[in-house]
Amino acid sequence: MKPCLLALCLALPACAAPTLMPLPAKTTPGTGRLAVTQSFRVALSGPSDEPRVHASALRLVSRLAAQTGMPFNPALEPDATKATLVIAWSSDGLPVQALGEDESYHLTVDSNQARIQAPNALGALRGMETFLQLVEVDAQGFAISGVTIDDAPRFPWRGLMLDCSRHFMPLDVVLRNLDGMSALKLNVFHWHLSDDQGFRVESKHFPRLQQMGSDGLYYTQDQIRHVVAYARERGIRVIPEFDMPGHSLSWLVGYPELATSSGPFEIGRHWGGFAALMNPASEDTYRFLDSFLSEMAGLFPDEYFHIGGDEVNDKEWRTNPAIQSFIQTHALDGSRGLQAYFNKRIQVILAKYGKHMEGWDEILNPDLPRNIVIQSWRGQKSLAQASRLGFQGILSSGYYLDLMQTAARHYQVDPLTGDTADLTDAEKARILGGEAAMWTEYVSPETVDSRIWPRLAAIAERLWSPANVTDVADIYRRLAVMSDRLEAFGLQHNGNYAEMLRRVAGPAPVAPLRVLADATEPGKGYLRDSHHYLQQTPLNRLVDAERPESGEARHFAGLVDKIAAKPDPADIAEARHMLEAWKANDEAVQPVFAASFLASENAALSHELAAVSSTGLEALHAIETHRVRPKSWIESNQNELEKMRKGRAEIIVPIIPAVEQLVTASGERPGAKENERPAKKKRKKS
Ligand code: ACM
Repeated sequence: MKPCLLALCLALPACAAPTLMPLPAKTTPGTGRLAVTQSFRVALSGPSDEPRVHASALRLVSRLAAQTGMPFNPALEPDATKATLVIAWSSDGLPVQALGEDESYHLTVDSNQARIQAPNALGALRGMETFLQLVEVDAQGFAISGVTIDDAPRFPWRGLMLDCSRHFMPLDVVLRNLDGMSALKLNVFHWHLSDDQGFRVESKHFPRLQQMGSDGLYYTQDQIRHVVAYARERGIRVIPEFDMPGHSLSWLVGYPELATSSGPFEIGRHWGGFAALMNPASEDTYRFLDSFLSEMAGLFPDEYFHIGGDEVNDKEWRTNPAIQSFIQTHALDGSRGLQAYFNKRIQVILAKYGKHMEGWDEILNPDLPRNIVIQSWRGQKSLAQASRLGFQGILSSGYYLDLMQTAARHYQVDPLTGDTADLTDAEKARILGGEAAMWTEYVSPETVDSRIWPRLAAIAERLWSPANVTDVADIYRRLAVMSDRLEAFGLQHNGNYAEMLRRVAGPAPVAPLRVLADATEPGKGYLRDSHHYLQQTPLNRLVDAERPESGEARHFAGLVDKIAAKPDPADIAEARHMLEAWKANDEAVQPVFAASFLASENAALSHELAAVSSTGLEALHAIETHRVRPKSWIESNQNELEKMRKGRAEIIVPIIPAVEQLVTASGERPGAKENERPAKKKRKKS
């Protein structure tokens, strides 16, 4: 550190601005510096010994110990005047965390003490997360700069849906992701527990559900209770989803009498839809579901209960005479009307057990009571439609983590923009927030953390922070910090990346494979659906190891933006250095391809990265030497790059658009010299 900066640090209390995520509603810098030393102690001040606050405070002490590497006295301080941090709350909150419970808090730090004050215990939990993010290192030790924070969420429903059916997620995966969620102030864990490919809950009323529908991979009722309690302690509601009447093949293996068609049935092993549907025309179906839902309603205390309802392929209903006759007798509007009839029956059962129904877009029907929640996976349009009809809704479209989109793209999706922007204030108030969706067709327990984190943190901020917090560059800066914090916290998105790359490399040195992996990304959207996958297909390839978003490619694109606007020698040198490394890597990585079957399939990818880099170097050279590439060169390279960009490979080269930009810029810059004749010697060398 330069002496003048050091002097500044000593003069001002703490140096760096803390990295907060999600950004609080209001942060006011204060004065003073609160030292965090080994005498750090916490005092609690509330109406009772609220177990959530108590447990969270003890966790805070142990997390702070991990964060600083310093052991602390874990006992709470009985005398608030002596404590470093006082946590005060006015009300313990509800025995079952409810939608809309107050999560606000007020946090002040001065040179004597930090103080969290919250109207409700939940706000105390949120404030503790912010407190931990405030602790920084400065020249004298660990400390917090004086500050006042007034914070409350923008939306009351901020969730993560985790699909545990397509790939079962062991308990430790669920628990560590709940930890991550609480660190980001998320408050709903939507647990997708049944689908065609697996039924994941122990039912005592209908044990063949898990015995025949899960391959032995299911959560016992004790484990479910543990998860619910663990989540409650972190301020997270748990909402189970049992998908019906479609996506229900795994139920039918043990209970074929539920089906529209006759069995036998087997667990679904491939992805995409299956034809099998429950039979909504049979009273036995409702008797079964009544008994099942009564059992599950007791296991999951939240007031909301998700019935799925998505993607009903109605072929079986259309071709079944008994179903068609039922539709006629009840004057239903075809298959849609039949599903609405089914939903209405289920809603009445759920209401009997004290639950509001929740479902995907497809359950929307004006005949249902207005206390249900519609989860929109199709877009803001259906959310707006639901709200206009008087239903509450949450947004998931745009927050599908399985589609491998960038954090920036998710961050820019807002529940109240697009089709919902024109709603009245009353209609907008019915939009409760959103949920990220982690579908797991191509996700295993080993890869799930890297598909969720750190991108979920960007969505968490969208749903917590004020609408005008939209700086994309700043979100990437803070995501990098959060990503490390989450890893320290037990998530494995970084560690598993390194480990999986080592496995792919086998006996060969991993470094060149890592260069390739760092520069490339899994393809976007539903691309992998066009390849052949089954439930048991190993997810141990480079595409599985890779991060959804290449930080290197993003950095390179930023450099190219700057170069295209105003060629600066330092930016050009850095971009050239990156391109040269990628180009040279194709040779360096060959021994890895030779050594490991898992690596060798990536030879074409490596070659493509090198070819794209080579083109980028040629364009950069023209820009650097103030020459203009001939039009024919520009066009043929643009065509080549476009072809590569539109390829359907499972791994993509994300620098292509930036290299296209360089190619374009190498042809059109004002003030450039006359046409450069392609210099053969130079090109060979480059
Ligand atoms: C869904 O993505 N089918 C809810």
